[in-house]
Amino acid sequence: MPGKPTNVLDSQSCASRVRVARSWPGFKMCSIRVTYSEVAESTTTPTTTRLVPLVRTCSPRTCTPAEYKLMRRRPGELVANRYHLRRPLGTGTYGEVWEARDTHLGHDVALKLMHHQDKSTTWREAHLLTALRSEHILEVHNADAEFDVPYLDTALAACSLDAVMAPYGIEPTRAVDYVRRALRGLELCHRSQLLHRDIKPANLFLSIGGDALLGDFGIASVMDSNGFAEAGGDIRIRAPELHGGGGTSIRSDIYSMSVTLYALLAGRMPFGQQYEADLIAAVQAGQYPHLRDIAPHVGRALADKVRKGMSVDPHSRYASAGEFDNALAIPVDARKFTPAAVDGDELRAWSGTGKGVDLRVSLRPSSRPRQYRIDTVGVRTNRRLLEHCGDIRERDAPTRLRRIFDGLRH
Ligand SMILES: Nc1ncnc2c1ncn2[C@@H]1O[C@H](COP(=O)(O)OP(=O)(O)OP(=O)(O)O)[C@@H](O)[C@H]1O
Ligand SMILES: [Mg+2]
Repeated sequence: MPGKPTNVLDSQSCASRVRVARSWPGFKMCSIRVTYSEVAESTTTPTTTRLVPLVRTCSPRTCTPAEYKLMRRRPGELVANRYHLRRPLGTGTYGEVWEARDTHLGHDVALKLMHHQDKSTTWREAHLLTALRSEHILEVHNADAEFDVPYLDTALAACSLDAVMAPYGIEPTRAVDYVRRALRGLELCHRSQLLHRDIKPANLFLSIGGDALLGDFGIASVMDSNGFAEAGGDIRIRAPELHGGGGTSIRSDIYSMSVTLYALLAGRMPFGQQYEADLIAAVQAGQYPHLRDIAPHVGRALADKVRKGMSVDPHSRYASAGEFDNALAIPVDARKFTPAAVDGDELRAWSGTGKGVDLRVSLRPSSRPRQYRIDTVGVRTNRRLLEHCGDIRERDAPTRLRRIFDGLRH
């Protein structure tokens, strides 16, 4: 882990008084908290914080030579005389991940080059991954350091799930399959007295073979004797009790996995508030858009299971990853609906397969303002099979769509 965050910058922006309240020593690359104050700064002025994208400010003046060398990695370079860098896959809080060729073993890997020089943290993550080795957890191959910069060599995934869920979400049967596999990895993790603490779509991966894997144990923590650990992880997936000073537990990991399933089904996180204070208030009140308002093709039973996992009261959630996994073992719907890319004047579209007739359900604007039409067309014949209703008002569209999918599913 990098050193403790420190207050390093204080600057003005054109729109508001902006204070960059946190960064990490050496690298200012993590999520930076920006404090806005409407009026001149005073202790009584309410302030809100916002998470802003990563900012890269490493220069020869602000970084050690080793860090600077790391930051200037280019495709084609050789790391540790072994890893041939191909392309950057992304940058997270603790490191930069590259697709690389392991020239010793002759296969492609994901190489995570850490921003910090704290090797023990990197070796710890490697130990955890080695101990939890299973078909449901991203495999670690090697952990080493070059120029004091630690790195982790792990299996190369096809992608992380945040990359496949946008903009309309994943077909429900597939989303459930991904989460059930990740839950089996999480169950193993919990049985080893570890809490993952950072479950989110970006930390679930798809193997090259297409199976979901739980990954990124960078901030995993050992449970204390009461089954708790310090709160941590992305604030968009942190359980409500963690915002009130509570610790991470098995049930808070389950909450994060439920938020992940919501996001995979809906194509967006349940809490998207721009300001941290608003986000925390919504999380604590359990106020988020109903899953079936955003993804009406999701069955009621599944939506209820996600809602249970996201209960504000930890005791109303599933007690274990295994219990959540079992709850998700629902019968497969007779007809499956997948959100589809829109075409022509469609505002939303779904393709339905099963029961011998492939369908396309479309939501279109009507000729009247703020009114819509919903129709279902046979894919092969391109003939309108059903016009479900005449013009409907905007606010009635989610309810109508839910009913239509419930009718078409069986
Ligand atoms: N083994 C891997 N195979 C393929 N892509 C990976 C692998 N590990 C990480 N990535 C990609 O690299 C990027 C950075 O990952 P990283 O875990 O460092 O950050 P993050 O998950 O976005 O945020 P956080 O630091 O909070 O975990 C992500 O976009 C992820 O998809
Ligand atoms: Mg990650």
